[in-house]
Amino acid sequence: MDVADAIRSRRTHKQFGSEPVSEETLRELLELARYAPNHHLTQPWRFRVLGPQTRRRIEELAGEKEARKLQRAPTLVLATAALSGDPLTDEEDLHASAAAVYAVLLGATARGLASYWRTPTCFRDPLVRGVLGLGEDERMVGLIHLGPRLSEPPDKHRLSIDDVLTVLP
Ligand SMILES: Cc1cc2nc3c(=O)[nH]c(=O)nc-3n(C[C@H](O)[C@H](O)[C@H](O)COP(=O)(O)O)c2cc1C
Repeated sequence: MDVADAIRSRRTHKQFGSEPVSEETLRELLELARYAPNHHLTQPWRFRVLGPQTRRRIEELAGEKEARKLQRAPTLVLATAALSGDPLTDEEDLHASAAAVYAVLLGATARGLASYWRTPTCFRDPLVRGVLGLGEDERMVGLIHLGPRLSEPPDKHRLSIDDVLTVLP
């Protein structure tokens, strides 16, 4: 699959097969993230693959409704940005970390996997952050859901290029 096809065919999936993504594939996907564009090459992205024990502890803290949502995907990867405290650098590092997450989603799409970028509110909870070992300097960028593809989510309405493009003289 070429890049344009991966970009066009990626969808937010909320249903997944039960088989976790293999460690080998996961490493290949996260390896792609390392190539995201990044001012001053601060490489702020951090990834945590959530194992069964961690998932259980988070589900207990999150409550039943949220736990059910977290159980939708067999593989969850938390992406964060390690920030320096300098406002300009932090803004750019968040952008770079988002680009890194997108690289993972596109890589997953190209491999026929379903993916979903989520930012669950409970991951802002100090207790949940504690379970994840998040430092004060780390900001959630996304909880990447991955797993076998089960469905074909519909395309969503998007503005046309003419709605968003201005060509300046
Ligand atoms: C930073 C970010 C946070 C997101 N957080 C959520 C979320 O918490 N819950 C959710 O359902 N979707 C979330 N999404 C996914 C968007 O809702 C989704 O990309 C959008 O509806 C477009 O659909 P598509 O991905 O299928 O093209 C998030 C996307 C981004 C980029």
